[in-house]
Amino acid sequence: MALKIVLLAGDGTGPEVMRQGVKVLKAVEARFGVSFDMVPFPCGGQHYLDAGEEWPDGAFESCKAADAILLGAVGLPEARLPNGDLAGAGVIFGLRFGLDLYANVRPTKLYPNVRHKVHDAFKQVWEPGKVDFVIVRENTEGLYTPARGLLSRGGVDELAVDSRVITRKGAERVIRFAFELSKSRKGAPRDGKSRVTCVDKSNVVAGDRLFRKVYDEVASQYPGIGKDYAYIDAFLQWIVRSPENYDVAVAPNEFGDIATDLAAVLQGGMGMAAGGNIGDAHGMFEPIHGSSPKHAGKDEVNPMAMVLAVQMMLDWLGKRRRDKPLREASAAVEKAVVDVLKAGKVLTYDLGGSAKCSQVGTAIAARVAARK
Ligand code: IPM
Ligand code: MG
Repeated sequence: MALKIVLLAGDGTGPEVMRQGVKVLKAVEARFGVSFDMVPFPCGGQHYLDAGEEWPDGAFESCKAADAILLGAVGLPEARLPNGDLAGAGVIFGLRFGLDLYANVRPTKLYPNVRHKVHDAFKQVWEPGKVDFVIVRENTEGLYTPARGLLSRGGVDELAVDSRVITRKGAERVIRFAFELSKSRKGAPRDGKSRVTCVDKSNVVAGDRLFRKVYDEVASQYPGIGKDYAYIDAFLQWIVRSPENYDVAVAPNEFGDIATDLAAVLQGGMGMAAGGNIGDAHGMFEPIHGSSPKHAGKDEVNPMAMVLAVQMMLDWLGKRRRDKPLREASAAVEKAVVDVLKAGKVLTYDLGGSAKCSQVGTAIAARVAARK
């Protein structure tokens, strides 16, 4: 039976990297005897400019009925809704809220032959293997709760309010997700010990005091996993100084948003960073680099983030469905990325090479297809 995968290529570089993701999925079909029914929908800022809608009628329902969703990128600076919001963001939030994708899972892993993007002087700190942690970001509340408003008087924008909402339910389920994830990993690179770091600002903010309280309650149910606390400001410093100390970190929505872009620097930049938006019933996977309009149409961006999003999707599907070929396919995709990195011949500009996006996609797909 074919698995239904909705493809939302979106804007800018989204379609280019999506094509590479599809190549890899086809290679998986060829080698692992699984089949995918890939269903594309247009969406995003460009689609809004062309068609007056962020995505077509029926697209959300199709995502809801799919086994998984793969997203390229949405958003173009010039494409705005009448209220000023970025056109296309409704697709991301429509899925996050509409499908209750409460855990935004962002692995930060430095693969062999990839240099982190910080100044060379500290290069030795970030040896491959020493950066391998996951930030689990709450994805359905916090500052992203649509409890906000703008007061205009006489045509002058005078006051804006955003309410940051933290609930027991929202905190509990994402923190539990983080502990379960830690159980399935090998611990922090420094000592091989499992730990979940609670990232918050509970020294000041009420919602974060609740978040930490719930963390303590959940943590007490996982005696084998170490407790660890970090205020968000200090956490950003520590992941740069000592990334090897971390296994899994869990954070409220907006803190996780900020921390994961910073963390991408430790893994070679946004071209290497993938994420999964995961709930109890649905999963959406994406490279986290966004549409990068200045690179669009040049076939030059790194498709590895997209390929790693495919890899996360296969892993999630494989575990959820207890399907061995899918889990093996996920491992094969990651190995293919590592092999291409180690060979060092077909790499995009951000990794010091001069290959095209499509060439990297082809090289990875060929290694996935090859039975070794
Ligand atoms: C992300 C992005 C989104 C977010 C934007 C595009 C709305 O930055 O996925 O991290 O803020 O969540
Ligand atoms: Mg972000």
